[in-house]
Amino acid sequence: MRALDNAYAPYSNFRVGAALLARNGEVITGCNIENSAFGQAICAETLAVGYAVSQGLTDFEEIAIATEDSEPTPPCGACRQVLNEFAPNIKISSYTREGKEAVWTLDNLLPHAFVLNPSRGRV
Ligand code: THU
Repeated sequence: MRALDNAYAPYSNFRVGAALLARNGEVITGCNIENSAFGQAICAETLAVGYAVSQGLTDFEEIAIATEDSEPTPPCGACRQVLNEFAPNIKISSYTREGKEAVWTLDNLLPHAFVLNPSRGRV
């Protein structure tokens, strides 16, 4: 919720906060950051993963998401793919300001995730 308060979402007005729990106990947060060039918007979850990885953290246990919607919001498809890169079974919890909660696991939300076979494309 504190990360949500820092969201920059003047175009959609849909503010999102995320808190990523690393295996070593550290919590890395992110918020969505929109841009005049709409395609440059960054999701809260993807920002948290990117910041964590840039700090050397790549092993994650759980991500919590906070929005101001009336129902708990699951991560978008692109963020599911980003999470899958590092934590295919990560627990995902989502909260509303009114205290509603939903819990999923990534393998439920993203079956058949794309994984690049390094040999693909080689001749
Ligand atoms: N958004 C997120 O931050 N995470 C999601 O999983 C879904 C969407 C943001 C992107 C954009 O700034 C706003 O929510 C509306 O789509």
